[in-house]
Amino acid sequence: MINQVLYRKYRPRTFEEVEGQEHVVRTLRGALASGRVGHAYLFCGPRGTGKTTMARLLAKALNCSTRQGAATIGNKKPTELCNTCHSCTEINEGRSLDLIEIDAASNRGIDEIRNLKDSAQVAATGGGYKIFIVDECHMLTREANNALLKLLEEPPSHVIFVLATTEPHKVPDTVLSRVQRFDFKKISGETIAKKLHEIAKQEKLQIDDDALATIASSASGSLRDAESSLNKLISYSGVKITDEQVAEALGIVPHHIHQKLLELIKQKKGQEAIAQVANLYESGVDMDNFVKQFVKYIRAELISFISQPIAASSTQSEPEFFIKVINLFVKAGGELKFSPVPQLPVELAILELTK
Ligand SMILES: Nc1ncnc2c1ncn2[C@@H]1O[C@H](COP(=O)(O)OP(=O)(O)OP(=O)(O)O)[C@@H](O)[C@H]1O
Ligand SMILES: [Mg+2]
Ligand SMILES: [Zn+2]
Repeated sequence: MINQVLYRKYRPRTFEEVEGQEHVVRTLRGALASGRVGHAYLFCGPRGTGKTTMARLLAKALNCSTRQGAATIGNKKPTELCNTCHSCTEINEGRSLDLIEIDAASNRGIDEIRNLKDSAQVAATGGGYKIFIVDECHMLTREANNALLKLLEEPPSHVIFVLATTEPHKVPDTVLSRVQRFDFKKISGETIAKKLHEIAKQEKLQIDDDALATIASSASGSLRDAESSLNKLISYSGVKITDEQVAEALGIVPHHIHQKLLELIKQKKGQEAIAQVANLYESGVDMDNFVKQFVKYIRAELISFISQPIAASSTQSEPEFFIKVINLFVKAGGELKFSPVPQLPVELAILELTK
């Protein structure tokens, strides 16, 4: 079924397919259309938002021979790449000699940059551009940065640099002043959920949109993290993925457990409530996470309670009860960090509420 890691399989192959980052795509397309591409770019922003992807797309577009050969319309060139010409194919298969990727996290030193400098002097094999992607460029040593700087000052005309980093504040000013900088943004939960929906459809997964939204919101803006979570779930549950499995895999406590815990507290069944918390703890749920989610759950209950006309089954004291639970759990949450026993503050809150 899935014989390739999802995030690689669904890496965008055209500018069109990139999610979010419209500001970057628009500016790069503008440069490609007018033929005025800068010689050095810096792509910065949170992890898994498309920096490396965009660098490869730019490289492909620059050397795409279909694009080069196409007629110029009103002195503008087309800006999308073809994925079928010799150059695009070579890059897609990872065997182009004109796209050189350096991972500065593992090759931080001066030798790497010297090699890069030697290679930059040699013309591109395809007669077009030679593109160097320096990933995690904030990791370069000072000597390596100085050598890179010389290259950025007087780059051979056929050479284009794309530096990428999650930590632009660690890039020296001297380098910053010689590159065109693009800030990549976190991708919205909605956009991530939409993309996961498309993937689920293609992979013929049985998973509902609520579960996909849960995965999306736990990825905090990184599309790669969301795709990796989905991948993990597939290897764990197969094509049929339930809400429970999603919750478990992401360390999220399922809704009905919150419901049950609140009910036990309400009925003053302290011992059973504590046993349930112990169960959660033993199954690997992070207490800090759990308390936050439980407080959110009760807040939602409280809000839905006060926004409804008083039902026959409920008592006037219900809001006060919710408020008391919230207060004690918020307090417990603050004490977790200092507790010698991880679940102790939660147990004390339950005892206080059920005594
Ligand atoms: N903007 C995006 N649009 C579509 N897919 C994306 C986007 N960003 C990330 N992805 C998905 O995540 C994968 C990884 O993206 P990429 O390597 O470009 O992230 P990155 O920003 O370079 O991350 P890192 O900082 O960790 O190097 C891609 O293969 C793709 O599946
Ligand atoms: Mg990257
Ligand atoms: Zn092409």
